[in-house]
Amino acid sequence: MDPARQRRIKSVVRENFDLSPTGYAAFEERFGLFARLARALACLAGVGPGSRVLDMGCGTGDSTRVLAQLAGPDGLVVGLDISAAMLRAAVARPLPAGSAPVCWVLGDAEAPPCLAGGRFDLVLYNASAFLLPDAAASLAHARDLLAPGGRLGATVLCGLVDAATGEDVLERLKRDDRFGVRSGAITDPDALRRAFASPAGPAESTREVVVAAPGQARSFYGIPAQSSSLFPGLPLHERLALAHALFDHLDASEASLGFEWEFLVSAPRDGERA
Ligand SMILES: C[S@@+](CC[C@H](N)C(=O)[O-])C[C@H]1O[C@@H](n2cnc3c(N)ncnc32)[C@H](O)[C@@H]1O
Repeated sequence: MDPARQRRIKSVVRENFDLSPTGYAAFEERFGLFARLARALACLAGVGPGSRVLDMGCGTGDSTRVLAQLAGPDGLVVGLDISAAMLRAAVARPLPAGSAPVCWVLGDAEAPPCLAGGRFDLVLYNASAFLLPDAAASLAHARDLLAPGGRLGATVLCGLVDAATGEDVLERLKRDDRFGVRSGAITDPDALRRAFASPAGPAESTREVVVAAPGQARSFYGIPAQSSSLFPGLPLHERLALAHALFDHLDASEASLGFEWEFLVSAPRDGERA
């Protein structure tokens, strides 16, 4: 992708998330999806007492709070996000008792400042790596921020599926002119998987379909930033109206929906164990 297009995409992503803290918080309070993903990723990647963790694309801090609680008072967590509005919402919320100290940083995951002297045990992207037009550049910077033995990790949304059959629902809807769905990943999961590999080895990968509770997919794609992933380029009110019509149709079809997530954890930096 050419650099001018990458910059344009990044600025649209930032503007969309600047509109999203309220919708995001309402979704998370009801469904707890991002905290649950963060906990599963932290467990696979090995976050524990004393861990030093960089939370890339920390949003309103749902992932950050989980990581801070697991890292405990002897750890350190840095939450970095490109959206000032998402980050303001994160700073305003209290941390759970017994958490690691947290530093909040406004910045770009594709060009992060040199944080904590480059000694993180883990750099994690919970539901954020696939929003980066140059994810490979971000991961290369992230590797430089790792201590020997440190690891990178991500949760990657691979699609909305029919939970019974595994069929990719959005791919089917894209072929149906009635709905105007034009979803396309900013960075496709294959490219991310390749970028997670290093001379020390390929990433460990596991997949999980999170069956959506009633109303969950509608609420997810009703978040301003997520509606953009279905109907890119349209004004917000048009995107939201299209998303409602789409989920009216899906609710009527009574298929049970699921979000398919992939968990990626890199081989340890320099092939060492932390
Ligand atoms: C789906 S939210 C996930 C937030 C959080 N990790 C969680 O689990 O709740 C994705 C976040 O990535 C951030 N983001 C997108 N592109 C970014 C970039 N280039 N640099 C830093 N953050 C970015 C967005 O602003 C948004 O807050």
